[in-house]
Amino acid sequence: GMIFEKSSTRTRVSFEVGIYHLGGTGLFLSKNDLQIGRGETIHDTAKTLSGFLDAIMIRTFAHQTAVDLATHARVPVINGLTDLAHPCQALADYQAILEQKGRLHGLKIAYVGDPNNVTNSLMMGAAKLGLHFTIGAPSGYPVNDFVWKRAKEEATKTGALLEIFEDPREAVEKADVIYTDVWTSMGQEAESAIRLQAFQGYQVDDALVRYARPDYSFMHCLPAHRGEEVAASVIDGPNSIVFEEAENRLHAQKALMVAVMQGEHYTHG
Ligand code: CP
Ligand code: NVA
Repeated sequence: GMIFEKSSTRTRVSFEVGIYHLGGTGLFLSKNDLQIGRGETIHDTAKTLSGFLDAIMIRTFAHQTAVDLATHARVPVINGLTDLAHPCQALADYQAILEQKGRLHGLKIAYVGDPNNVTNSLMMGAAKLGLHFTIGAPSGYPVNDFVWKRAKEEATKTGALLEIFEDPREAVEKADVIYTDVWTSMGQEAESAIRLQAFQGYQVDDALVRYARPDYSFMHCLPAHRGEEVAASVIDGPNSIVFEEAENRLHAQKALMVAVMQGEHYTHG
C-alpha cells in the first residue's frame, strides 16, 4: 500500500511498477481517499492497514508521521519522502553514481542550493559510504542540525569528509558530482518568493560547473525548475545523468522491497 499526502510522479510510478515486477499488487492510497484525510489517527490507520498489506510506503509532511506509522504497523514501512528525508532517492542516486563512475570510494559529491530532505538523505549516504560531501548554501539556510550530527557521527566511523560552504564555487571545487534540488520543496509554497530571492547566486549554471572536474556528473532528484536551481544548458547537457538517476528509483526500490519484505513473505505465506 502506498500512502501519498504529497504529489509524486517518480515515487508513485516506480513503486507501483516495481511491486508488479515482483509479483505483487500495489494500492495507491491518496490522503483524500483515506480516512486520515478526515482525522483518523495514524495509529489506527497503521494497525488497520497491517491486517491487509505486506508493506506500506508513505510520502508525508512531518517525519514523525512516518515514524508513528512504522511504530504502530506490524508490516515494514518505507519512507517515500518526508519533510526530513528522502532515503529511496539516495539509494537510487548512489546506484547511479556507481554506474557512472565505476566506483564510489574517493568521490566528491557537491550539493548546491537548499539543504532539504534530499540533501539530508544524500549526506547520510555519503557519511555511511565514506565519501567527500560538500554543501554550498546561503548561511540563512543551514542544514538540519539533527541530521548533521548523525552524519558527522557516521563520518567518524567511515572517514567521510562533510563540509559546508557559503560560496557554491568552493563547494563545487573539483567535484565528481554536482547535485541540486528545488529551492521550494512541497509544503513550503508560501515562502517561494523569499526563497527565490535567497538562493540567487546558487543556480548550477555553466559558470559554476567549470569549478568541478571536467568529467563531473550533474544530478537532480527531479522535478526540476530550469532557470531557477539549474540552467537548462546543464540539466539538458552532456554531463547530466538525471534520467538514469530517475530510472534507478525502480531498481533500487525493488531491491529494498525484497530486503524488507522477505521475512514477511514467509509469515504471510
Ligand atoms: N524525485 C522524486 O521523488 O520525484 P516525485 O516527487 O515525482 O516522486
Ligand atoms: N525537496 C523536494 C523533493 C521532491 C522529490 C520536495 O520535498 O518537494
